[in-house]
Order: sequence, then structure tokens, then C-alpha cells
Amino acid sequence: MIIAIDGPAASGKGTLGKRLAHHYGYRHLDTGVIYRAVAYAMIAMGADLNDEALAVAVALELDPEKFGNPILKTQKVGEGASVVSAFPKVREALVNFQRQFAADPPGAVLDGRDIGTVICPDADVKIFVVADPRVRARRRTLEARARGEDADEEAVLADILKRDERDKNRTVAPLRPAADAHTLDNSNLDIEAGVRAAIAIVEAARARR
Ligand code: DC
Repeated sequence: MIIAIDGPAASGKGTLGKRLAHHYGYRHLDTGVIYRAVAYAMIAMGADLNDEALAVAVALELDPEKFGNPILKTQKVGEGASVVSAFPKVREALVNFQRQFAADPPGAVLDGRDIGTVICPDADVKIFVVADPRVRARRRTLEARARGEDADEEAVLADILKRDERDKNRTVAPLRPAADAHTLDNSNLDIEAGVRAAIAIVEAARARR
């Protein structure tokens, strides 16, 4: 069984993905981390993020062992990930890894922007997570502060809106719900309520199979 979760920046899809994977005993892949790792490697090299050829080379050499690095979670790396992920060849270089991850037993939860549309179009369940931009900015700000980073909520909101625009309007694999995705708006739900709502969606999908 494959559960595909997509949604905009800071919608809570990562937390939801992790919780669903735990609930069902599946593996979890936060695919944003892959694009973040490409951006981070380029930033660390002092490279220009718009250097497409270099971004592709970095993507092809990616080391999944490094996906756990907390530095990948920073705002700057997220912004860089949004830039490099718009290059079609960067995305192409990363498709096989994601599909293989999804196919391995016993089942997997993948979260990102194009899981239900491009990576796993045949996923058993697709959830499109949305939340009001203000709510997302608030959450991201609190997360950044909890990590000891300085975060201004208005700046975070501006970054989120800019990222939504770029992710939705790129030509390849834009952020959008798959035709058969279930939309889950968690603006007014805490994590537990969001997880319960998602489990209800998964259970209903399983009952129909
Ligand atoms: O979900 P996130 O904030 O970690 O994602 C960072 C960026 O990576 C996001 O702005 C766009 C890109 N991304 C993508 O293009 N496709 C995915 N499946 C996941 C992330």
C-alpha cells in the first residue's frame, strides 16, 4: 500500500506523513528533503542555485544517508530547494529513487508536491493537505524559534507565499491535487485531529479496495 501526501510549504504534510507511517508500520519519505539536500550541497559549494547543469550533477550523486541533517530544514535551504526543484532534469534524476522507495515492502508514505500526480500516480490513497497561509506561517515561525533560529512571522509568511507561487506555477510537476486526491484542510485542526482525519480517509479508501 502506498499513501501519497502532497501540499504546500508548512502545511503539516511531513508531520502527518511520519504519523501515518508509524500508525500503519510503513516507511516514510519526506521528499522535500531530497530537493533540500541538492540545494544545501550547492550552497555549501558556494555555487549559484540557478546553475542547472551543476544541480543535475549534484542530484545524480545524492547520498540518502545525509537526509537526516537538521540543517536541511532551514528556511534558506527550503527556498533554495524550491529553486532547484523547478529544473526538469533535477526532478528526473530523483524519480527512480522515490519510486523504488514507494515500491519496497511493506508499504510507504511519501510526502511532497507531486507524489500523487507524478511519482506515484497509482498510489492507493492520495491526500492533499492544505492550511491557511497565516496558520502555516505561524507554525513555521514557532518551529524555527524552537530550533533557536530568529524568525519573523511576516517574513516567514512572505517566504511561504513566494514558495507557493513558484511551486504551483513551474512548468514541470507543479503543486496541484491529483484528480483522485482527498483534500484535508487542517487550518483549524491540531496534529492529533489532523492524523485522525487522515486515518479516516485511508480507512475509507481501504474499505473500497
Ligand atoms: O516540503 P518542503 O518545504 O521540504 O519542500 C522544499 C521545496 O522542495 C519545495 O518548495 C518544492 C520542492 N519539492 C518539490 O518540488 N517536490 C517535492 N515532491 C517535494 C519538494
